[in-house]
Amino acid sequence: MFSPFIINDKNLFLDRFPVAQVNRSLQAWDAADEYLVNYVNEQGLINDNTKVVIFNDTFGALTANFSLKGNQVFCINDSFLSEQGIKHNLEQNHLATDNIHYLTSLDALPIDIDLVLYKIPKSKSLLTEQLIQIKNTYSESLLFIAGDRAKDIHSSTLKVFEKHLGTTTTSLAVKKARLVFCQLDNKSTYQSPFPTVWELEPTYPATTKFSISNHANVYAREKLDLGARYFLQSLPAVAESTKVIDLGCGNGVLGLTLLAAQPLAKIHFVDESYMAIASAKANIEKNLPNEVGQCEFTVNDCLTNIDERDIDLVLCNPPFHQQTATTDHIAWQMFNDAFRALKKGGELRIIGNRQLAYHIKLMRIFGNCKEIATNNKFVTLSAKKR
Ligand SMILES: C[S@@+](CC[C@H](N)C(=O)[O-])C[C@H]1O[C@@H](n2cnc3c(N)ncnc32)[C@H](O)[C@@H]1O
Repeated sequence: MFSPFIINDKNLFLDRFPVAQVNRSLQAWDAADEYLVNYVNEQGLINDNTKVVIFNDTFGALTANFSLKGNQVFCINDSFLSEQGIKHNLEQNHLATDNIHYLTSLDALPIDIDLVLYKIPKSKSLLTEQLIQIKNTYSESLLFIAGDRAKDIHSSTLKVFEKHLGTTTTSLAVKKARLVFCQLDNKSTYQSPFPTVWELEPTYPATTKFSISNHANVYAREKLDLGARYFLQSLPAVAESTKVIDLGCGNGVLGLTLLAAQPLAKIHFVDESYMAIASAKANIEKNLPNEVGQCEFTVNDCLTNIDERDIDLVLCNPPFHQQTATTDHIAWQMFNDAFRALKKGGELRIIGNRQLAYHIKLMRIFGNCKEIATNNKFVTLSAKKR
């Protein structure tokens, strides 16, 4: 059990989310959260009338602290998991929630804001996109403070702040975290380079070239992931009306390719990133407009609350990171959820790096596992619900 997050005599009990994850050794806040909270409190930057925007709060350490006041807090995240984590932690600490407003990374920013607290995201593309959005929305009077682990704030990171916002300075490091202060200038803003678009060469079973559009925080936004490339070579041939889930769909390349080969399949695209789901939807609309009606697009934590148990096939290229932590709990959850959602005889087909040994998990959950293809880096595996 962790010690609580104690700041200014307030004890907050914060969980990582989802709560029931295998790796319990990681805590739900970091030194940059602590530094931001202490700094804002010491400087008295928040009072009952302050309107604050918090970007990329991971599990609520910032939101929970600043919701202790009666001010308005706008929480912006691309991660559905983080949003759920923040809600969970506010609830378990019995904190008021009427002053908290949740926005996704694709929403317009709220206006008349006094303070932006910015947790620097791992993705430099998301950083760029969000800074451009901030500069486009706010004036020079905005107070802007960012925070991260000192080792993740490189001079190249500071240049991104300087380029997109204005004069940038940093604090001393405290507990290996650092703050970044920006004074917005009045120079004109840069145009967002996102969504980025690349061409997907035809891969069996698809015979057409596709144009793949990617919002800033989408996995493989520059080019096709190597694992996905290998996976595409051994997608199964499916019958008409087959019900398929593309789990952790990213930009939707797996489901899109399957749908091109079997235009009467029904594909449900699921991802925890709002930008991923928006990209997957845009990619079906652009490349297979006649099939959009057979597709569903859902932001979700794996297959939470999908209980129909009538799915024929789940395709999955699982993640092995949650934020900055390397973890296999999402793969476990994806495989367990797939097992539940499949009908009897249904198949989970996955791709993974060989060293991740996903066959052990599949054997444990499904009681069977077949190797479909392998090379020196990847393995494509299939497990059937019996
Ligand atoms: C390795 S990427 C695969 C993306 C895409 N299918 C491909 O092959 O290029 C894994 C995806 O899983 C998503 N993801 C991570 N955690 C998730 C969760 N708890 N529920 C749903 N999707 C999740 C990530 O956002 C990411 O898009």
